[in-house]
Amino acid sequence: MNFLELVKSRYSSRKYSDKIPEKEKLHYIMECVRYAPSAVNFQPWLFKIITDKKELESLHSCYKREWIKSAPCIIVACANHEESWHRKSDDKDHSDIDVAIAVEHLCLAATEQGLASCWVCNFDVTLCREVLSLPSEVEPVVLVPIGYAEDEASEKKRKSIDEITL
Ligand SMILES: Cc1cc2nc3c(=O)[nH]c(=O)nc-3n(C[C@H](O)[C@H](O)[C@H](O)COP(=O)(O)O)c2cc1C
Repeated sequence: MNFLELVKSRYSSRKYSDKIPEKEKLHYIMECVRYAPSAVNFQPWLFKIITDKKELESLHSCYKREWIKSAPCIIVACANHEESWHRKSDDKDHSDIDVAIAVEHLCLAATEQGLASCWVCNFDVTLCREVLSLPSEVEPVVLVPIGYAEDEASEKKRKSIDEITL
């Protein structure tokens, strides 16, 4: 698979089999994650890999959609605001950008390994902090369900290159 093929074959899966992704695959994916670039190389990210049924159940309260219950693993990608780069000119915190790059490494590595995933940001952050007992400087940014897909990609609707170039 070349890179374009990999990028095109990643899609948001919302139905997974029970099978927990193999430890070796999760390790490989986390290797791809930790090589992501970040502002000033601060790497202001933390990941919680959840496969325990009880922990998954408590996490479901943060995102009340039936489909996420099928995921045998959810990786919670967090930003550590005490470690992120803040641009001098306007104090912009770059942790969201850093975490986003790492999460896309995660999703593409998962795709390459035959696993499916989905970005989930529309969750209750306050509840998630409580459920995971996160310290105040650590913000959960994305929930990433990951596993073997039991659905198929729908047609990719994307703007053309002309539409996105200035
Ligand atoms: C930052 C971000 C947040 C997203 N949040 C959610 C979400 O909360 N729930 C959901 O079902 N999908 C979510 N998605 C998935 C998008 O809906 C999906 O990526 C988009 O429709 C394109 O489809 P594709 O991923 O299958 O190519 C999110 C995607 C991104 C990048």
